[in-house]
Amino acid sequence: MNRTTEIPREAKGIIAIYPGSFDPITYGHIDIVERALEIFDRVIVAIAQDTAKNALFTVEERMEMVRSIFADMPKVVVDTFKGLLVNYVEKTNAKVILRGLRATSDFEYEFHMASMNRSLSPRLDTLFMMTNKDYFFVSSRTIKEVASLGGTVEGLVPDLVARKLKEKFKLPLTKKRDFDWEY
Ligand code: PNS
Repeated sequence: MNRTTEIPREAKGIIAIYPGSFDPITYGHIDIVERALEIFDRVIVAIAQDTAKNALFTVEERMEMVRSIFADMPKVVVDTFKGLLVNYVEKTNAKVILRGLRATSDFEYEFHMASMNRSLSPRLDTLFMMTNKDYFFVSSRTIKEVASLGGTVEGLVPDLVARKLKEKFKLPLTKKRDFDWEY
Protein backbone atom coordinates (compact mmCIF):
# COMPACT_ATOMS: atom_id res chain seq x y z
CA MET A 1 0.00 0.00 0.00
CA ASN A 2 1.24 3.46 -0.85
CA ARG A 3 2.56 4.92 2.39
CA THR A 4 1.20 8.36 1.55
CA THR A 5 -2.36 7.00 1.27
CA GLU A 6 -4.66 9.00 3.50
CA ILE A 7 -5.85 7.28 6.62
CA PRO A 8 -9.51 6.31 6.09
CA ARG A 9 -11.90 8.95 7.41
CA GLU A 10 -13.43 6.74 10.07
CA ALA A 11 -9.98 6.00 11.51
CA LYS A 12 -9.37 9.68 12.16
CA GLY A 13 -11.96 10.26 14.81
CA ILE A 14 -10.78 8.18 17.70
CA ILE A 15 -12.80 9.01 20.75
CA ALA A 16 -11.89 8.16 24.32
CA ILE A 17 -14.36 8.23 27.17
CA TYR A 18 -12.90 9.38 30.45
CA PRO A 19 -15.48 8.39 33.08
CA GLY A 20 -15.47 9.19 36.75
CA SER A 21 -17.25 10.74 39.68
CA PHE A 22 -15.25 13.99 39.45
CA ASP A 23 -16.46 14.92 42.93
CA PRO A 24 -14.67 17.27 42.49
CA ILE A 25 -12.36 17.37 39.49
CA THR A 26 -8.67 17.75 40.41
CA TYR A 27 -5.51 18.68 38.56
CA GLY A 28 -4.78 14.95 38.41
CA HIS A 29 -7.89 14.46 36.25
CA ILE A 30 -7.15 17.54 34.16
CA ASP A 31 -3.61 16.36 33.48
CA ILE A 32 -4.96 13.03 32.17
CA VAL A 33 -7.38 14.81 29.82
CA GLU A 34 -4.68 17.14 28.51
CA ARG A 35 -2.32 14.24 27.80
CA ALA A 36 -5.11 12.19 26.24
CA LEU A 37 -5.78 15.02 23.78
CA GLU A 38 -2.32 14.36 22.34
CA ILE A 39 -3.43 10.82 21.48
CA PHE A 40 -7.15 10.94 20.80
CA ASP A 41 -9.18 13.17 18.52
CA ARG A 42 -11.81 13.77 21.13
CA VAL A 43 -12.14 13.08 24.83
CA ILE A 44 -15.54 12.75 26.42
CA VAL A 45 -15.41 13.49 30.13
CA ALA A 46 -18.34 11.43 31.37
CA ILE A 47 -19.58 12.26 34.85
CA ALA A 48 -21.31 9.33 36.53
CA GLN A 49 -24.66 10.04 38.11
CA ASP A 50 -24.71 6.66 39.86
CA THR A 51 -21.60 5.94 41.87
CA ALA A 52 -20.96 3.79 44.90
CA LYS A 53 -19.83 6.88 46.78
CA ASN A 54 -21.99 9.59 48.32
CA ALA A 55 -21.26 12.68 46.31
CA LEU A 56 -20.53 16.05 47.91
CA PHE A 57 -21.44 17.97 44.76
CA THR A 58 -24.61 17.40 42.78
CA VAL A 59 -24.14 16.15 39.25
CA GLU A 60 -25.13 19.62 37.98
CA GLU A 61 -22.48 21.28 40.16
CA ARG A 62 -19.81 18.80 38.99
CA MET A 63 -20.85 19.30 35.39
CA GLU A 64 -20.71 23.10 35.70
CA MET A 65 -17.20 22.98 37.19
CA VAL A 66 -15.89 20.51 34.60
CA ARG A 67 -17.51 22.43 31.71
CA SER A 68 -16.00 25.71 32.76
CA ILE A 69 -12.54 24.14 33.20
CA PHE A 70 -12.54 22.73 29.66
CA ALA A 71 -14.46 25.61 28.09
CA ASP A 72 -11.58 26.60 25.82
CA MET A 73 -10.79 23.05 24.68
CA PRO A 74 -13.09 22.22 21.76
CA LYS A 75 -11.89 18.61 21.60
CA VAL A 76 -13.23 17.95 25.09
CA VAL A 77 -16.91 17.10 25.46
CA VAL A 78 -18.43 17.04 28.93
CA ASP A 79 -21.43 14.83 29.55
CA THR A 80 -23.15 12.89 32.31
CA PHE A 81 -24.33 9.31 32.25
CA LYS A 82 -26.73 7.19 34.24
CA GLY A 83 -26.53 3.45 34.76
CA LEU A 84 -23.87 1.19 33.32
CA LEU A 85 -20.84 2.82 31.76
CA VAL A 86 -20.70 0.26 28.94
CA ASN A 87 -24.25 1.13 27.87
CA TYR A 88 -23.29 4.77 27.68
CA VAL A 89 -20.09 4.02 25.77
CA GLU A 90 -22.03 1.88 23.28
CA LYS A 91 -24.21 4.88 22.45
CA THR A 92 -21.16 6.94 21.49
CA ASN A 93 -18.57 6.13 18.86
CA ALA A 94 -15.90 5.71 21.49
CA LYS A 95 -13.37 2.92 21.15
CA VAL A 96 -11.69 3.27 24.47
CA ILE A 97 -12.39 3.86 28.14
CA LEU A 98 -9.63 5.90 29.66
CA ARG A 99 -8.63 5.81 33.32
CA GLY A 100 -5.80 7.31 35.33
CA LEU A 101 -3.74 5.01 37.50
CA ARG A 102 -2.00 6.45 40.54
CA ALA A 103 -0.18 3.73 42.39
CA THR A 104 -0.42 0.03 43.05
CA SER A 105 -3.32 0.69 45.41
CA ASP A 106 -5.49 1.74 42.45
CA PHE A 107 -4.65 -1.36 40.49
CA GLU A 108 -7.01 -3.91 41.98
CA TYR A 109 -10.08 -1.67 41.77
CA GLU A 110 -9.24 -0.63 38.23
CA PHE A 111 -8.44 -4.19 37.16
CA HIS A 112 -11.81 -5.42 38.43
CA MET A 113 -13.67 -2.58 36.80
CA ALA A 114 -11.91 -2.94 33.45
CA SER A 115 -12.45 -6.71 33.49
CA MET A 116 -16.13 -6.35 34.34
CA ASN A 117 -16.63 -3.76 31.61
CA ARG A 118 -14.88 -6.01 29.09
CA SER A 119 -17.02 -8.93 30.14
CA LEU A 120 -20.15 -6.81 29.67
CA SER A 121 -18.94 -5.41 26.36
CA PRO A 122 -16.06 -7.39 24.79
CA ARG A 123 -15.46 -4.82 22.03
CA LEU A 124 -14.44 -2.19 24.57
CA ASP A 125 -11.01 -1.78 26.00
CA THR A 126 -9.79 0.25 28.95
CA LEU A 127 -6.53 2.13 28.61
CA PHE A 128 -4.64 3.43 31.62
CA MET A 129 -2.45 6.48 31.85
CA MET A 130 -0.08 6.88 34.77
CA THR A 131 -0.94 9.90 36.84
CA ASN A 132 1.56 12.73 36.69
CA LYS A 133 4.04 12.35 39.58
CA ASP A 134 3.00 15.77 40.91
CA TYR A 135 -0.50 14.45 41.57
CA PHE A 136 0.19 10.93 42.74
CA PHE A 137 -1.21 11.66 46.20
CA VAL A 138 -4.22 13.64 44.99
CA SER A 139 -7.69 12.13 45.08
CA SER A 140 -11.12 13.73 45.20
CA ARG A 141 -11.64 12.05 48.57
CA THR A 142 -8.54 13.52 50.21
CA ILE A 143 -9.21 16.91 48.62
CA LYS A 144 -12.66 16.95 50.25
CA GLU A 145 -11.27 15.85 53.58
CA VAL A 146 -8.54 18.48 53.64
CA ALA A 147 -10.92 21.23 52.46
CA SER A 148 -13.55 20.27 55.04
CA LEU A 149 -10.96 20.64 57.80
CA GLY A 150 -9.85 24.06 56.59
CA GLY A 151 -6.62 22.93 54.89
CA THR A 152 -5.42 24.40 51.64
CA VAL A 153 -5.95 22.55 48.38
CA GLU A 154 -4.22 25.22 46.34
CA GLY A 155 -2.26 23.84 43.42
CA LEU A 156 -4.16 20.56 43.57
CA VAL A 157 -7.49 21.74 42.18
CA PRO A 158 -8.37 24.75 40.01
CA ASP A 159 -9.28 27.96 41.88
CA LEU A 160 -12.90 27.56 40.84
CA VAL A 161 -13.06 24.15 42.55
CA ALA A 162 -11.28 25.45 45.65
CA ARG A 163 -13.89 28.23 45.88
CA LYS A 164 -16.78 25.79 45.47
CA LEU A 165 -15.32 23.57 48.21
CA LYS A 166 -15.11 26.56 50.54
CA GLU A 167 -18.72 27.46 49.79
CA LYS A 168 -19.87 23.89 50.50
CA PHE A 169 -18.09 23.64 53.80
CA LYS A 170 -19.40 26.98 55.03
CA LEU A 171 -22.77 25.32 55.68
CA PRO A 172 -24.08 26.11 59.15
CA LEU A 173 -23.29 23.28 61.55
CA THR A 174 -26.96 22.81 62.36
CA LYS A 175 -27.81 22.05 58.74
CA LYS A 176 -27.65 18.40 57.79
CA ARG A 177 -24.84 17.88 55.33
CA ASP A 178 -25.58 16.06 52.10
CA PHE A 179 -22.53 13.88 52.19
CA ASP A 180 -21.04 11.16 54.26
CA TRP A 181 -17.35 10.40 54.45
CA GLU A 182 -16.00 7.00 53.57
CA TYR A 183 -12.86 6.02 55.41
O1 PNS B 1 -14.00 8.40 39.79
P1 PNS B 1 -14.48 7.06 40.19
O2 PNS B 1 -15.50 7.17 41.29
O3 PNS B 1 -13.38 6.09 40.53
O4 PNS B 1 -15.24 6.46 38.91
C1 PNS B 1 -15.87 5.22 38.96
C2 PNS B 1 -16.85 5.08 37.79
C3 PNS B 1 -17.88 6.19 37.83
C4 PNS B 1 -16.11 5.14 36.48
C5 PNS B 1 -17.54 3.70 37.94
O5 PNS B 1 -18.10 3.59 39.22
C6 PNS B 1 -18.63 3.48 36.91
O6 PNS B 1 -18.34 3.21 35.76
N1 PNS B 1 -19.90 3.61 37.33
C7 PNS B 1 -21.04 3.41 36.46
C8 PNS B 1 -21.73 2.10 36.80
C9 PNS B 1 -21.03 0.93 36.15
O7 PNS B 1 -20.94 0.82 34.95
N2 PNS B 1 -20.55 0.02 36.99
C10 PNS B 1 -19.88 -1.19 36.52
C11 PNS B 1 -18.38 -1.03 36.46
S1 PNS B 1 -17.68 -2.29 37.43
